[in-house]
Amino acid sequence: MEKYKLIVAPSNMAMAEYLSGMITGSLDELSGKAHLNIAVSGGATPEGIFRKLSDMKRGVINWNKVRLFWVDERCVPPDDQESNYRMVKKSLIENINMPGKNIFRIRGEAEPTAEADRYATLLSKELPLLNNIPRFDLVILGLGTDGHTASIFPHNISLFSSVANCAVSTHPVSGQKRITITGRVINNAADVVFLVKGQEKADIVRVLISGDDYSEYPASLVKPVNGDLTWLTDINAVSLIKGYA
Ligand code: 6PG
Repeated sequence: MEKYKLIVAPSNMAMAEYLSGMITGSLDELSGKAHLNIAVSGGATPEGIFRKLSDMKRGVINWNKVRLFWVDERCVPPDDQESNYRMVKKSLIENINMPGKNIFRIRGEAEPTAEADRYATLLSKELPLLNNIPRFDLVILGLGTDGHTASIFPHNISLFSSVANCAVSTHPVSGQKRITITGRVINNAADVVFLVKGQEKADIVRVLISGDDYSEYPASLVKPVNGDLTWLTDINAVSLIKGYA
């Protein structure tokens, strides 16, 4: 695995505090830029951490200066239990005073190919460009036990190297259609954080962090070109790594 920082946190609160520190630190450095552009993933891991983030003392994070985008979205309506937007809305957005104009959700209810094109164009329009590629300040990724990240899975790992900013993916088991940002956008970010918790992730974390051959895993392709990679984990997720066992 490329150069990375490994943070092992004892709780959801500690993980939220670390994320909060990254966000406030970047907000302090905003200088001429008006906003901090963050892309969030779905799944169960971030939910508890986002709740803690939104429980933080009012004012710790100036959410007016933060704009939220999504790493990926399931092709379902925004009020569907499966919706990543719904999860972030319930666990974070509803608890903070973030203006609606700062929220750029992927429209899971739209026709997938058209929405992938729309979101790809939106990213190029709304974000600063580096090497003509949209550049997020922070991309928060999850990790599946199969080594998927965003909604790029081992069976369609080629999506990671798509020339487009976004792609239409399918879940390998459910066949559910998803819209995802691609590797060119992920690896163009200033900060990429893998948010990983739980014993069930220990093996894939071991393979990715200390393994030799892991090229079939999309997560192994996350190598920020002009940015930093951080693994923000709990003790269970690193329990198979020497020194943490
Ligand atoms: C999604 C996510 C996906 C997720 C991983 C881990 O839409 O589900 O973007 O990539 O981050 O599957 O999910 P858990 O946090 O639920 O383990």
